[in-house]
Amino acid sequence: MPTAGKLRLGVNIDHVATVRNARGGAYPCPIRAAELAQAAGADGITAHLREDRRHITDADIDGLVAALKVPLNFEMAATDEMQAIALRHRPHAVCIVPEKREERTTEGGLDVAQDENRLAHFIAPLRDAGCRVSIFIAAEHNQIEAAHRIGAQVIELHTGAYCDFHAEGHFEKRDGELHRLTEMAAFAHDLGLEVHAGHGLSYETVAPVAALPQVVELNIGHFLIGEAIFRGLGPAITEMRRLMDDARA
Ligand code: PXP
Repeated sequence: MPTAGKLRLGVNIDHVATVRNARGGAYPCPIRAAELAQAAGADGITAHLREDRRHITDADIDGLVAALKVPLNFEMAATDEMQAIALRHRPHAVCIVPEKREERTTEGGLDVAQDENRLAHFIAPLRDAGCRVSIFIAAEHNQIEAAHRIGAQVIELHTGAYCDFHAEGHFEKRDGELHRLTEMAAFAHDLGLEVHAGHGLSYETVAPVAALPQVVELNIGHFLIGEAIFRGLGPAITEMRRLMDDARA
């Protein structure tokens, strides 16, 4: 069993841009939110530049790169356009996610096993440029093995199903998902992959995932931006940090 060190919190600020874009204009500014998150103890900022630019824009990425002191985790689909943008900015990390125009959010993990050759060629220049390459996948043996074979340094395990079952009150299914995440985090770690997790996490669901000793980073967005309405972004992040640290201890 690896020893559980400090768990990093990556704050995803996409939905600050969602609110801004609901009216057009410049307010609220996701870069200001990222700076606030940084000041509140975020270890990194995550932003997803979607193909349809429905939330984060190219100018937001330019602004984040210029403003941030903590690492930027640039979420992107495996397209030539996104690869060129990533290579121009060389963020600390890129997280490759599946993207469908009709989905409301990133609904599933990337099917690496189905697209192994193309993805191996796709990520090679990103790695060569010094980015840590993370692949967002379901907690499944074949996807983890494929991510390892293509040369990714990091996997991010999709916690969406675990969180959905919790929200729907299907606690047996939720616990089944948690068991799968537990086993697959250990499996990936044993292969030498760095393990992250995220999607749908909230104050109610974060602790068991934060307690997994192989997981070194959680990426959390929608819940924190929602909670910021009620208690402010800084306090919302501080509380998440406290729950993560307590679970880790
Ligand atoms: N990790 C990845 C790879 C994601 O695509 C997302 C959603 O954009 C998240 C984490 C954060 O999910 P949520 O906004 O539900 O916390």
